[in-house]
Amino acid sequence: MRVLVVGSGGREHALVWSIAASPLATEIFCVPGNPGIAEDAECAPIDVLDIEGIVDYALKQRIDLVVVGPEASLAAGLVDALEAEGILAFGPSKAAAEIESSKGYMKDLCARIGVPTAAYQRFTDADKAAAYIREQGAPIVVKADGLAAGKGVVVAESVDEAIAAVDAAMRDESFGAAGAEVVVEACLVGEEVSFFALCDGEHAMPFASAQDHKRAFDGDKGPNTGGMGAYSPAPVMTDEMAEHVLTTIVQPVLDAMRAEGRPFKGVLFAGLMITENGPEVIEFNCRFGDPEIQAILPRLRSDFLPALVVAAEGGLKHFDLRWRDVSSMTVVMATKGYPVKYENGSEIRGISDADAIPGVTVFHAGTKLEGDKMLAHGGRVLCVTAMGDTLQIAHDLAYQGIDAIDWPEGFCRTDIGWRALD
Ligand SMILES: Nc1ncnc2c1ncn2[C@@H]1O[C@H](COP(=O)(O)OP(=O)(O)O)[C@@H](O)[C@H]1O
Ligand SMILES: [Mg+2]
Repeated sequence: MRVLVVGSGGREHALVWSIAASPLATEIFCVPGNPGIAEDAECAPIDVLDIEGIVDYALKQRIDLVVVGPEASLAAGLVDALEAEGILAFGPSKAAAEIESSKGYMKDLCARIGVPTAAYQRFTDADKAAAYIREQGAPIVVKADGLAAGKGVVVAESVDEAIAAVDAAMRDESFGAAGAEVVVEACLVGEEVSFFALCDGEHAMPFASAQDHKRAFDGDKGPNTGGMGAYSPAPVMTDEMAEHVLTTIVQPVLDAMRAEGRPFKGVLFAGLMITENGPEVIEFNCRFGDPEIQAILPRLRSDFLPALVVAAEGGLKHFDLRWRDVSSMTVVMATKGYPVKYENGSEIRGISDADAIPGVTVFHAGTKLEGDKMLAHGGRVLCVTAMGDTLQIAHDLAYQGIDAIDWPEGFCRTDIGWRALD
């Protein structure tokens, strides 16, 4: 099969790496890709939002399957455009991607079918949102409705902070059109976990669980980021809990979306809070988590490519995946200053030394090759990933990999996995 992966981050490097291990993959392409990906795939400089450019490229390269990484491409209708040309694609249509691209749609859907999620209201008027916040009191959560690259949610400790979040979204238009509507919801308390299911529009197959670390610094301090590290599996997600999530959350959502005429195909990523009353939905995403998938894929024993094909074509009901009985961890190395302000262009040495440690794989998230120098080119730059019989072993190996990398301008959290390691 000729496979095209869309995206340029650590997630897409992990996807390409995993697909490259498949005996069924004859040629792998990636747009736009990155220098790490380029070792396994032919890369072409086409933007992830250039729908026409990607479709033309897929036709020209006679691609059998397109795997779409970023939510922005899905929300822009890339899968619809590919399918219109008869190209098989892994990922939801634009309409189905609304489960992520409109938090209001997702909340209404859950409320209508009785899927547990925090009590909420939707607002298109900032004064009304503020009045509701005063009535409810703090803590309270304010969310921009649309895609805001992980910056659109404020868990407010005070009424003033919540109202400021409404003003930022609706009056200052900090997130553009994505903040024209907000969801205000109750604050849930518990442990957070990500649960992934492959879906073919009709059936859902549990894929894996993971836990990520959103804050920039140790001890869950500092600003929110795209994710500073992850491990898989997440011990809170027991087999019983996974079954419960599948039957009471994922399958009902899938059934409802199919009934609405927007069947969900691809990966449904449920962000859950394990509360006193059981799991409740924080949000749904319509794509693999970054960096969760970097931690998950090394654990997969089965060939990944057939799973992607079957999810895209239908037939998951009769499909199964096998996993290695190991733990995995990925630690993100970011440029100092991320997520606020940072500079590109610092040189990174030692990536191949880290990669040479048995059990360690370095995924590139934001790098650029200049001559024979590897330069940082982005906030999140590398994802140092390791597998081991226990999470402690995976942790120790991942940090050995980090130690092998010589990059004074970079930083990482030193406590990835702390909840599970204690
Ligand atoms: N209702 C809630 N109660 C407590 N924390 C929440 C709630 N909603 C969101 N959060 C926190 O905010 C983070 C981001 O919210 P989320 O809905 O996942 O938005 P996004 O990932 O699009 O930024 C979550 O990972 C969680 O830590
Ligand atoms: Mg989230």
